[in-house]
Amino acid sequence: MTVLVTGGAGYIGSHMVLALAEAGESVVVIDNLSTGFSAFVPNEVPLFIGDAGDENLVDGVISQHGVDSIIHFAGSIVVPESVRDPLLYYQNNTMTTRSLLNAAVKRGVSRFIFSSTAAVYGNPDQVPVPETAPTRPTSPYGSSKLMAEIMLHDTAAAHDLNYAVLRYFNVAGADPQGRIGLATVGATHLMKIAMEVATGQRAKIDVYGTDYPTQDGTAIRDFIHVCDLVQAHRAALAYLRAGGPSVTLNCGYGRGYSVLETIEAVRRVSGRAIPVQTASRRPGDIMSMVADTSRLRAVLDWTPAYDNLDTIAAHALAWEHKLFLERHSSGEQRASA
Ligand SMILES: NC(=O)c1ccc[n+]([C@@H]2O[C@H](COP(=O)([O-])OP(=O)(O)OC[C@H]3O[C@@H](n4cnc5c(N)ncnc54)[C@H](O)[C@@H]3O)[C@@H](O)[C@H]2O)c1
Repeated sequence: MTVLVTGGAGYIGSHMVLALAEAGESVVVIDNLSTGFSAFVPNEVPLFIGDAGDENLVDGVISQHGVDSIIHFAGSIVVPESVRDPLLYYQNNTMTTRSLLNAAVKRGVSRFIFSSTAAVYGNPDQVPVPETAPTRPTSPYGSSKLMAEIMLHDTAAAHDLNYAVLRYFNVAGADPQGRIGLATVGATHLMKIAMEVATGQRAKIDVYGTDYPTQDGTAIRDFIHVCDLVQAHRAALAYLRAGGPSVTLNCGYGRGYSVLETIEAVRRVSGRAIPVQTASRRPGDIMSMVADTSRLRAVLDWTPAYDNLDTIAAHALAWEHKLFLERHSSGEQRASA
């Protein structure tokens, strides 16, 4: 009963691997280290440096380690990059998933958990957004993930495989013990940029769009702590192991915070001023994206532990301080770890 985690050296995947290893699960990782860090994978967990779409590699790992469940995080995640280079995203998100699924089906892997995204909804008609809302992605990133969802659905209908598609909203925070966190160079996440301002690595944060019909004019997002998200994956794994049918679930807390409220939380927690520069809306930006979490809470045995914006910000800040000191003391980026 081994769990294969693809992308297990990345931000969310590494928190997953740590949680599985700490729970005594047998776990193995495939990661090509394109944005991940080998140092994020615990020493006792086998790490195969390679492509999750390399069917020979995957086949060997499944048979060698007795893999019966796959949690698939590996992928490319930057929305504007997907607009500039859509084929990269259809390759790395859609085709990689196709190859991984092909190897999984051939070897009889019976459970598959897929990292999807709220971006599959595009501009929602209704907020909070239920899983039954129309899927109309506004970026190649969202489309590449939706295509993977469709493949997974069809594959599960034809083979002995059950899946959980987890559509993440905005993932933030870090391991409360400060061991791992978001370290991607040039990450574009709002909370991450605010942390870089709070730690003196940036002078200001740009806020795009201050004229939305929201309480302070800025866009609304639903943040979920990375460790609560990981616990949702563990609950999804337990659900599938217990014979639960395939399911698609939103992963958020179901609570929206505006961009300015989020920046204010970082200011409160850090005690540092966060200079803001306002700019006009960017094409494709979504006004309000908040999860309807009723299905998640009904289907899975999941109780979030960190549903508090200040707690999320505090964990992210502690990690950012550590990362900043490490990068400065070594004089090089952690990417070389
Ligand atoms: N971070 C978020 O807010 C968010 C929101 C919605 C969905 N997601 C999804 O969650 C997943 C993980 O995201 P993350 O934030 O941890 O990003 P990340 O970039 O930190 O992690 C991705 C990991 O996958 C690896 N990888 C990429 N392509 C690969 C390939 N072809 N073969 C093997 N390894 C490969 C990278 O090296 C990295 O370690 C992604 O699929 C992403 O689309 C993330």
